[in-house]
Formats: sequence, structure tokens, C-alpha cells
Amino acid sequence: MLELGVKSLLAYLLGALIGSLLVGQLRGGVDIRKLGSGNAGGTNALRTQGWSFAAWVMLIDIGKGWLAAGVLPAMNLPGIGIDPQVERDWLAVACATAAVLGHVYPVWYGFRGGKGAATLIGVLLGLTPIAILAVFAVWLVVVMLTGFVGLGTMLAVASFPMYLALTEPKPSAAMLFFGCVMTLFVCYTHRANIERMRAGTESRARRLWLLRP
Ligand code: G3P
Repeated sequence: MLELGVKSLLAYLLGALIGSLLVGQLRGGVDIRKLGSGNAGGTNALRTQGWSFAAWVMLIDIGKGWLAAGVLPAMNLPGIGIDPQVERDWLAVACATAAVLGHVYPVWYGFRGGKGAATLIGVLLGLTPIAILAVFAVWLVVVMLTGFVGLGTMLAVASFPMYLALTEPKPSAAMLFFGCVMTLFVCYTHRANIERMRAGTESRARRLWLLRP
């Protein structure tokens, strides 16, 4: 249990390093939580600061998710070791969840972070890299058809447990549970986007809605 607790805590602290706020600090104290949609994520970074800022944000947020879910669980930490009683998939899923929670509720930034989208990309890369292709395809089609990045994110995350359930080898209970919980959680973090879509005030991505009439 020590391994589970320590690694989950480390994953949370890693997740709480928010790319947009780190890059903003390096670029003269920009806080994108006060700009655009108010979200400390890659989409709002692109919307308010441009491509180079957003690329660093995505690199940091995807990278920390991958480290937390794909690298940290397998590490043999000094003084901690590997606990044979902890099932590896549940450990990876606990670290993945902790990283996403760290991103959304970061201790370093007053518990006001992002919506978890890029961190989830990294986490999925760490957990099941092949699934990311299906998830990205869903995101791309939805964003191209509607222009709504938030909607694309929600449906892409929802496609993850569906992809696992429909493909071989059959997923573990831990992975399926994680996929379903994250689908609900991402809908929760995007509740303001849902409200704006209902009100007709959600902003649309300009360059990716080529398929819209
Ligand atoms: O990165 C989160 C994305 O899914 C939505 O971001 O800024 O449009 O609320 P935003």
C-alpha cells in the first residue's frame, strides 16, 4: 500500500504542474485563467497566446500525464520498492487519476487548474498507446464537424472505454473503470462549455471546421 500511496501522491504533484501557468510565468507573468475561456489549457493558450505558447503547454501537459501513468508506476523507487500485492493496472489507473486531479485541482496554483484534456492524452499514451489513435480520430472528426473543441474532448474521452470494450485483448476492470470515471469527470470539468453550447455562446475553432457547410 506504501507504493500505491507514494506513487499516487507523486503523480498528483506532477499533474499539478500546469503547462500554461508555467509557460505564462516564463513569458512575463501571463495568466490565461484571466483570458479567453478562462481555462488553463492548450485550447485557451492557442486562442489567447498563439501556436508557440500552446505547443509548449501541450508538450508539458501531455508529457506529465505520460510520465505519471506510463513511467512512474513501473519505477522502483528507493525505500519504496515494488509491492507484489498491488495489481499493476490498478496502480497505473490510480496514478493516472491522481495526475488528472492534480491538473484540475493543482496545489501549486490555488486548486484552480485546467479541464484535464491534454493531461488525459498523456495518461492514455502511458496506459494504452494504441487507443490514442481512436480517441484522437473521434476528437478530430467532432471538432471538424462542429468547431467545438470542448465537445470533441468529451466525446473523445467517452470513446476510450468504448474502444477498450470493443477491441481485443479484453481490457482489465481497472482500465474500463478508469475510462468510465474519466468520461463523467471530463463532462463535469467541461460543464461551462456545455452551458455555453446550450446558450449558443461557445467559441468555435476556426481552422478545424473545414467539413462544416
Ligand atoms: O482544453 C480543454 C478543452 O477541451 C476546452 O477548452 O478553452 O474551449 O474551454 P476551452
